[in-house]
Amino acid sequence: MKKWITKTIGFIFFGIVLFQVIFMISCRERQPSDPLADLAQTPPMGWNSWNKFGCDVDEKMIMEISDAMVASGMRDVGYEFIVIDDCWQISRDSMGNIVADSERFPSGIKALADYVHSKGLKFGLYSCAGTKTCQGRPGGKGFEELDAKQYAAWEVDYLKYDWCNTKGMDAQQAYRKMRDALSAAGRPLVFSMCEWGTNKPWLWPESIGHLWRTTGDIQDCWDCTRDWGGMGFTKILDLQVGLEKYAGPGHWNDPDMLEVGNGGMNITEYRAHFSLWSILAAPLMAGNDLRAMSEETVEILTNPEVIAIDQDPLGVQGQKVRDDGDLEVWSKPLMDGSRAVVLLNRSTEDAEISVSWEEIELSVSEASVRDLWKKENLGRFQNKFSALVPYHGVIMIKVTP
Ligand code: GLA
Repeated sequence: MKKWITKTIGFIFFGIVLFQVIFMISCRERQPSDPLADLAQTPPMGWNSWNKFGCDVDEKMIMEISDAMVASGMRDVGYEFIVIDDCWQISRDSMGNIVADSERFPSGIKALADYVHSKGLKFGLYSCAGTKTCQGRPGGKGFEELDAKQYAAWEVDYLKYDWCNTKGMDAQQAYRKMRDALSAAGRPLVFSMCEWGTNKPWLWPESIGHLWRTTGDIQDCWDCTRDWGGMGFTKILDLQVGLEKYAGPGHWNDPDMLEVGNGGMNITEYRAHFSLWSILAAPLMAGNDLRAMSEETVEILTNPEVIAIDQDPLGVQGQKVRDDGDLEVWSKPLMDGSRAVVLLNRSTEDAEISVSWEEIELSVSEASVRDLWKKENLGRFQNKFSALVPYHGVIMIKVTP
C-alpha cells in the first residue's frame, strides 16, 4: 500500500515537472511578445518601385500601381506588398524624424499607407543601415528606434533595409539593431535585408531578417554583367546554387526582384526567369509598371500553378539536380510528395532535355506529368520525361507519383 502511494506521488511529481519543462520550452520558442515572429511563412509576394522607376517615385504613381495590382488580378493570386524603394525620403527634422519628399508625397506617407491598405494590400518602405541610402538620402544609422516607431505609426508592413555607406560597420550587428528596434516598436513587419550577400547573411541567426538578398542588383537582361556589380538573370541564378539549405518558412534567400515585363528580355526569357524564381522559393516582388502590362506579362505574373510552386507550404528551396553545360534540370519537393521540375535551356538553339524520376528522388517507375505553363496534363510516364525546350526558355512540370 505504502509502495503504491509513493509510486503515485512520484508519478504526479514527475508529471508536474514535465509539464513545467514543456511549458517553458514552448514559451521560449514562441516568443509571443515578438511581433515579427511567425511572419513570411511562405516567400513574400508584392511589387517594388526600384527596377522600373528608380528614384522617380511619387504618391500618384504608387496609388495607380496599387489599383493596377487589384485590377490585373495580381492581388487575387497572392501579391500583397506595395513597396516604395529609395528616394521617398528627403531629410530629417530638428528632432531627427525622417521626412518624406513633400513635393512627391504631398499627402504624406500615412495617407498613402492608408490608401494601399484600403485596397486590401500591405505597405512597405525602404531605408538603409548606413549614414545615407544608396541614392544619398538620409540613412537609418543612429536613428533606428526613432525610425522604427515612425514606421509603426505610419502602419508600415514591410521594410527593405539596404547596406550603402556603412564603412566600418558590422553587418550582423547593424541588422540585429534594426530588427530589435522594429520588434520593440510593436508592429508586425516583414524585414527584408538587402546586404547583397557580402557577409553571408544566410549564416546569421534566423531571427534577424525574414529574407536576405544573396547577390548584387539584378539587371533586365539574360546574362549581362555591369562593371558596378549588376547582373543579368542567369548570372544571379548561378549564385543561388548551394544556398538552398538555408531557406525555409520565415527565412528566405532573395535573388532580387523580378524584371518580368520591363522590356530587356523576351517573353520566353521572362517565363524562364519567373519559373526559376518560383522553383527557388524566391520572394516574388514584381518590378515592372503594373499600369501598362501586355497580356503575356500578366499571364506570366499571375500563373496560379507556377505561383503555387513558389508558395508551397513545405517551404523547401528547389535546387539544380543536373548541369549538362547549357542544359539544366532543377527540382523542388512539394508538400504533397510531388516534385516541381524546370528544364532550362541556356543555349542558343532549341534542345531536348530529359529528367529521370531517380534524379528527382522519386522512387516509383510511373508518374503523372502536368505542364504548368500549358496548364495541361501530359499523361503517365515511365521512369523519365523528355521535352524539346526552346532556347533561353524552360519547360516547367509537376511530377506526381
Ligand atoms: C541598392 C539595392 C537596390 C535598390 C537601390 C536603391 O542598389 O540593392 O535593390 O534598393 O540600392 O538605391
